[in-house]
Amino acid sequence: MIEDIFQANGITIKKDGIYGDISDYGEQELEVRVRKKFAKNHFDYYLDHISKHHSIPVMDKEIIRFLETIPKNGTILDIGGCWGWHWRKINEIRPDIKVFIIELVRSNLHIAKNILGKLIDKNIFLVNGNAINLPFNNNSFDGVWSVQATQHIPSLELVYREVFRVLKVGGLFADYNLNNSYLSKLIYILFGKKYLVEGIVNNQFFLRRTTDKNRSLLNTIFKTKVRSRYTEILFHPEYKLSVGSREKSLFGMVDSYLANFGYLLQPFARQRSLHVLKLKVI
Ligand SMILES: C[S@@+](CC[C@H](N)C(=O)[O-])C[C@H]1O[C@@H](n2cnc3c(N)ncnc32)[C@H](O)[C@@H]1O
Repeated sequence: MIEDIFQANGITIKKDGIYGDISDYGEQELEVRVRKKFAKNHFDYYLDHISKHHSIPVMDKEIIRFLETIPKNGTILDIGGCWGWHWRKINEIRPDIKVFIIELVRSNLHIAKNILGKLIDKNIFLVNGNAINLPFNNNSFDGVWSVQATQHIPSLELVYREVFRVLKVGGLFADYNLNNSYLSKLIYILFGKKYLVEGIVNNQFFLRRTTDKNRSLLNTIFKTKVRSRYTEILFHPEYKLSVGSREKSLFGMVDSYLANFGYLLQPFARQRSLHVLKLKVI
């Protein structure tokens, strides 16, 4: 039962088909205002817009790797899942799996509803909530996935502790964020631009690139080895290098293949992800 995953005191489905409802955004008030405004834009083809910010072939490949770790009839939580595009093919790849997308900005979930259509409430469930206080029972998910979302949450430790709580023993957490690349830092310096590792971007939202600090924090909470993976080696929209980011692009497929050598190519990588298993209840 879907409802069994939600904490008893709480979450119900609202008239718009989305579970939960939050209006207090705490330390992310400013970010929510900016994102709500952006969600008012209409795009005829949403994947085109997404390909300006993410390499679709790279992330499609990462999703397949992640899904291989999920047992039959498993459940996944996507933190900051926004428009839900990572799951658009879930019914073809793994129809047995149920995905819960938790997202701070309700209007982003309305867009997800349009993009994901018939998958909603069958394979995918949309939840309006905050990752620092997940409305789910302990040991609910076989995997937790997050892409470029935890980097915007100032209270990272709260998120990581919540992820540990809601994961089942044996479940994998995969957390993709922007890499802190020394090569990029050098290029920024050469062009006289500020390379922000942690701070507020354009007075709009908080950003924290992934460093070994994140890895140590995860290690302290999960008490086991945390692996790093480096992806989006060729895709660098910040330098106007967005070739290959569209769905099924050949160049993008090469980029997804390069992730296998990401450790060697880490200075070139735009993303660094951390992967950790919950080995036992602590
Ligand atoms: C850069 S977008 C990435 C969206 C999506 N993961 C993707 O790969 O396209 C970050 C998303 O995280 C959401 N977010 C930020 N803070 C959050 C929080 N505390 N709880 C839940 N979602 C959050 C934002 O509203 C936004 O939709």
